[in-house]
Amino acid sequence: TKMLFNDSIMDRKKVIDIEDRGYQFGDGIYEVVGIYNGRAFLLDEHLERLQRSAKELKINIPYSVNRLKEQLLELVKINGLKEGVIYLQISRGVAERWHQFPVEEVAPVLVAYTKEEETLKEEEDNGATAILTQDIRWLRCDIKTLNLLPNVLGKQKATEKQAVEAIFHRGDIITEASASNVFIVKGSVLYTHPANHFILNGITRRKVIDLCNELDLDVREETYSVSDLLSADEVFITATKLDIVPIIRIDEVLIGEGIPGKYTTRILQAYRDIIR
Ligand code: PDD
Repeated sequence: TKMLFNDSIMDRKKVIDIEDRGYQFGDGIYEVVGIYNGRAFLLDEHLERLQRSAKELKINIPYSVNRLKEQLLELVKINGLKEGVIYLQISRGVAERWHQFPVEEVAPVLVAYTKEEETLKEEEDNGATAILTQDIRWLRCDIKTLNLLPNVLGKQKATEKQAVEAIFHRGDIITEASASNVFIVKGSVLYTHPANHFILNGITRRKVIDLCNELDLDVREETYSVSDLLSADEVFITATKLDIVPIIRIDEVLIGEGIPGKYTTRILQAYRDIIR
């Protein structure tokens, strides 16, 4: 398949320099965009968040976002991708290895490629399990950076326990999961952690909040505790291409009846209607 390297679509090959700051320091940003039936879902929202991440880290996106959008759509078309994701990352660039930003104007390195990936239909329909683990990340989780070691360790721990996700708690507060946002349902109210520097403001999360408003469901961006999570009627996670997955057990604790709940099912149905 083809990849995008800076402004050129080319054959996929090795292009990363050993002194790329993304490679050496995780000094860069990324986005994962869902492709459904050949269409890039919420691409503008992803590109907006990319610009925000770039600004927070003082990385210059090498050319206009309109051009980038064109190139990404072209890449999807050329690769004939129907179901999957675009992975896009921009590192600060290549420079002699010193921690501080390079002095001269360094050119950022942009790469993007496509990856086939199916929706987790079985987990969406039947629910999945999660584990709880401490949130050991830094205090700027709102930036979508390449630094993902705490997330990698969390997901690995979940995988070793045959769970789909590791839900993070910072002290007593549930923040999000290793690669998704978390919602709980208590009675007729949904709660999800507010979009501040403790979580990544997921594009799927925002879409789900919009959908709840349209469906007249009471959704609150408020913090909630570990015991709120474990005693919730329903729990679900949201992320690009994972969409909405009901969580029916966390470690040894069954959530609600141990089956996907009615609010989750309703929201998932509404979500499926808009991605099709
Ligand atoms: N992860 N929180 C974290 C820490 C994430 O890494 C992600 C997404 C999300 C959900 O964001 P969105 O709805 O915009 O995909 C929340 C991507 C998919 C990844 O790293 O592969």
